[in-house]
Amino acid sequence: KVVAVIMVGGPTKGTRFRPLSFNTPKPLFPLAGQPMVHHPISACKRIPNLAQIYLIGFHEEREFALYVSSISNELKLPVRYLKEDKPHGSAGGLYYFRDIIMEDSPSHIFLLNCDVCCSFPLPSMLDAHIKYGGMGTMLVIKVSAESANQFGELVADPETHELLHYTEKPETFVSDLINCGVYIFTPDIFAAIEDVSINREGRGNLRRLSSFEALQSATRTLPKDFVRLDQDILSPLAGKKKLYTYETNDFWEQIKTPGLSLKCSELYLAQFRYTSPHLLASGDGKKNAKIVGDVYIHPSAKVHPSAKIGPNVSISANVRVGAGVRLIGCIVLDDVEVKENAVVINSIVGWKSSLGRWSRVQADGDYSAKLGITILGEAVTVEDEVVVINSIVLPHKILNVSVQDEIIL
Ligand code: GDD
Repeated sequence: KVVAVIMVGGPTKGTRFRPLSFNTPKPLFPLAGQPMVHHPISACKRIPNLAQIYLIGFHEEREFALYVSSISNELKLPVRYLKEDKPHGSAGGLYYFRDIIMEDSPSHIFLLNCDVCCSFPLPSMLDAHIKYGGMGTMLVIKVSAESANQFGELVADPETHELLHYTEKPETFVSDLINCGVYIFTPDIFAAIEDVSINREGRGNLRRLSSFEALQSATRTLPKDFVRLDQDILSPLAGKKKLYTYETNDFWEQIKTPGLSLKCSELYLAQFRYTSPHLLASGDGKKNAKIVGDVYIHPSAKVHPSAKIGPNVSISANVRVGAGVRLIGCIVLDDVEVKENAVVINSIVGWKSSLGRWSRVQADGDYSAKLGITILGEAVTVEDEVVVINSIVLPHKILNVSVQDEIIL
């Protein structure tokens, strides 16, 4: 048997995702109309002999209760949320629930970060892992040399695929091959985590935080039950014939900011063409709105037939879109009203917001720039004819004048 664990972090982890993480935990933010964590979960469905999926995090249990019960029913597979009493780190969290995870006596454990967007080639990873015969195999990808330092950089043996060297977010360039945050382990991983914990205790908690973290808290040392998968496990075990790599040539992105969520929504919508074409909207502008490219529209949304939608648009539950509206490259969250002739381009429109007649909410669409997309927080009102460009608007604001390149607090 095989089990899958998805690390969902907690409220202190999603800060770069503000203002969208104020009310909804980041793992449940919709990409292509489905909660972020839904995408790795549906990928797990393709793993042979999968017994359970666990979500491990330190968000409140009630925030995940509805989602895990509905997804368990939908997939006919138990999905459980396990809440840590405090953050234990990406490996410590796994270890904390080892008894529950081992209940099914799995031979293999998949471990996935919830905030990565990729095609999750899990069955082929499992095959490769069995062939390599190590303790763990990680998904890796080549990225541009300039962007590699935001991730774990690594060196692998081109023949055997063994992980030879690993450094987490190094200051000087090591390699353009990086860690995708998707792993498969044998249960031996628990002994490896335990070793780190015991060693740390022995040295009287002397192990320091990385220089970046040390800046934030100069004297703090790590508690013995706080274990990071990357620094504490992958780095020391590299080159010991225990860890191997599996390279993907498909798409891969990390979802740390709202801008990147818009990009990932686009990637997942494109993937739906192959995996779930029934989720993509179609329409020719007669009975239904005119649809351009990949678009998701929740069945409860009401879209006027004279509206034109797409590409890369995702419309959530109970949204109302009026006559003559144009939507391009956007995520429109639950209960939003977009009135007649409004235009939304490269933006995320928060829950219960209202966009007035002839208003424009737009941005350049540079997904990695700070103000590259416009974000309206929850319940923002944009009055008739007001134009909002490259701006972030915090929840409950009423905009009655046009703004550009601003953060409205
Ligand atoms: N349950 C739980 N408890 N989850 C946690 C905790 C914790 O204490 N700490 C982090 N996580 C989760 C996060 O929600 C995320 O899904 C994953 O573990 C990794 O988070 P971080 O440890 O903050 O690392 P990162 O996202 O900056 O980078 C990691 O992922 C990259 C790929 O996306 C590293 O492994 C990089 O090397 C890698 O490139």
